[in-house]
Amino acid sequence: PALQAISESAVQGHEADEKYGDAMNWDELEFGVIPTDHMYIMKCSNGDDFSQGHLTPFGKIELSPSAGILNYGQGIFEGLKAIRTKDGRIQLFRPEENALRMKMGAERLCMPSPSTHQFLDALKQTVLANKRWVPPQGKGSLYIRPLLFGSGPVLGLGPAPEYTFLVYATPVGSYHKCGATMNLYIENEVRRAIPGGTGGIKSITNYSPVFEVVKKARAKGFTDVLFLDAATGKNIEEASLFNIFFVKDNVILTPPANGTILPGITRKSIIEIARDLNYLVKERDVPLEDVLAADEVFCTGTAVEVTAVASITYQDKRIEYRTGEESVFHKLRVVLKEIQTGVVEDKMGWTMLI
Ligand code: COI
Repeated sequence: PALQAISESAVQGHEADEKYGDAMNWDELEFGVIPTDHMYIMKCSNGDDFSQGHLTPFGKIELSPSAGILNYGQGIFEGLKAIRTKDGRIQLFRPEENALRMKMGAERLCMPSPSTHQFLDALKQTVLANKRWVPPQGKGSLYIRPLLFGSGPVLGLGPAPEYTFLVYATPVGSYHKCGATMNLYIENEVRRAIPGGTGGIKSITNYSPVFEVVKKARAKGFTDVLFLDAATGKNIEEASLFNIFFVKDNVILTPPANGTILPGITRKSIIEIARDLNYLVKERDVPLEDVLAADEVFCTGTAVEVTAVASITYQDKRIEYRTGEESVFHKLRVVLKEIQTGVVEDKMGWTMLI
């Protein structure tokens, strides 16, 4: 309620945008950037707290060539979706979790972070100011991308003297064009994260190092790549942008979020839903033998949502998995979707109405 009070006044004047986006063809939405109306920006310098956050027209930002983010990659990001419910409301899914994860990542990269209250208020203002870009129910969502980065100039190795928190939003459809299932490839040489590294936070620097292997895998017809742990090369960790689950005899396995995989919010929610439905969920190492033996595999992430994996290829071996409506995956996915789209009552208190 406190948030409502703060934000409502900040977005007056944007109410005229209530109608759906002018010439938008919602049926052709992809996962790409469509410029929207406004973004939110807030700065902090020299050890002060973040303050004076405000909306500004969506557009370019100015940076010093020696900004911390450009020179030393001092930056993290978040991703979450605003979803329109059947009755036209707009809601976010567990945004406090994104605020906490950003705080955790900021500490690791020696950056100050906005308070949870500031984070949530920024999301709310950004969504309200871009309301007309929230797709109609069932056509996609408004993807919200909070960024936190060193924007002040720095040359000697160290934290920047100024930080920028920026939130922009853009309407998106499905992440992978392949549709309902994925075909994954296990990468045997390149590693995504090392013990003690930054794999457990949403550091900007975790993502471009996987571009090359993903590009090669796509050229061979795979949807995406699974990475093995750096310490032993024997256990599955996660994919380029999503967490992974295996099902064997109705027991659900997923690698533990112990610092080398991203602690996904969809991952956490699926584990909680599965336990609530009395499935046994084990967060433990998943060696290659478990990949060979699994009945089902599915992946979770904000962008990819909950998607079935039809096959995994390791070296020359391709294993296929159950994907139909009888699968465990399908049951969990339906429950999550119903909460996210407001079809059922949110008993968990996971959604935040905008
Ligand atoms: C998300 O799933 O929202 C992410 O942040 C992954 C991103 C690389 C698209």
